[in-house]
Amino acid sequence: FYHNRNDLTSHIENDEKVTLGFAQVGNESAWRSANTESIIKAAEQENVDLQLINANNNQEKQIAIIRDFIKQGVDVIAFSPMVENGWDEVLQEAKDAGIPVILCDREIKVQDDSLWTSFIGSDFVEEGRRAAQWVVDHKESNTETVNIIELEGTKSSAPATDRKQGFKEVSEHHPNLHIIDSLSGDFTLGKGKEMMEKALQQFGSEIDIVYSHNDDMAIGAIEAIEEYGLQPGFDIKIISIDATNKAFKALSAGKLNFTVECNPLLGPQIMQAAKELKNGTEIPMKIITSEETFTQEEAKKEIKKRNY
Ligand code: AHR
Repeated sequence: FYHNRNDLTSHIENDEKVTLGFAQVGNESAWRSANTESIIKAAEQENVDLQLINANNNQEKQIAIIRDFIKQGVDVIAFSPMVENGWDEVLQEAKDAGIPVILCDREIKVQDDSLWTSFIGSDFVEEGRRAAQWVVDHKESNTETVNIIELEGTKSSAPATDRKQGFKEVSEHHPNLHIIDSLSGDFTLGKGKEMMEKALQQFGSEIDIVYSHNDDMAIGAIEAIEEYGLQPGFDIKIISIDATNKAFKALSAGKLNFTVECNPLLGPQIMQAAKELKNGTEIPMKIITSEETFTQEEAKKEIKKRNY
């Protein structure tokens, strides 16, 4: 994964304070709040001059924020891309200005991969595989149909695309697992609840499992299932991704069945990368965080340690 990016870093002099422009994607989830806090805290600790601006889940706004950072001539730009496509032009402008770009937690699809310097985040496909593996391990038989509702994250975003793919890779080898509907809940609790209400109206108690691309939508689904008069975690099993404190609470209460960890605490790694880029040090093109999974029993033991 190492890549020579010295052409992008040679303009930076040693021993100056790093100026980092961070275009945060939004405020959609507990995961995102923890991610933003981690970035702000790490910048303070590492004495990085951070400018963090929130794009409120609007790609045009995120592009405008990046353009503004380029105009200001920050040392390094980092951003959490809302969706995978549509970044070629603005990142070419950053490259032309000699500013290295760090992708925070979400990857992108561009014609030329030299437009970004490093990706720091999770393997979302693997997260989807792990979620599906739980379903495979807990289904009662190989013949009885298991009806699954998938609550997807933001359309065309890397976590939504990859978590869908990972889940499919594993589940397609088990013909009795059926995704009966995939609904976009945009990674928010409110939309997750709304989509689950829709699914319940259509399929009712035929639903066996909800696979949610994040914890917030799973919490929304729990509320919808309770209001419908069924027991989440028992009548309908729920698995999600992120492993935030609210998921641990739901797991401990028996309302959620499994969560796959996605680590939002990327601040220290981003600051380190920004400093190294400023000093002209070559950094890995991909820095992947290692993550765990949590059952109800494991969540009960770990809940006190999970402070986001
Ligand atoms: O990109 C990471 C995803 O974005 C998290 O899983 C989700 O909660 C967030 O909004």
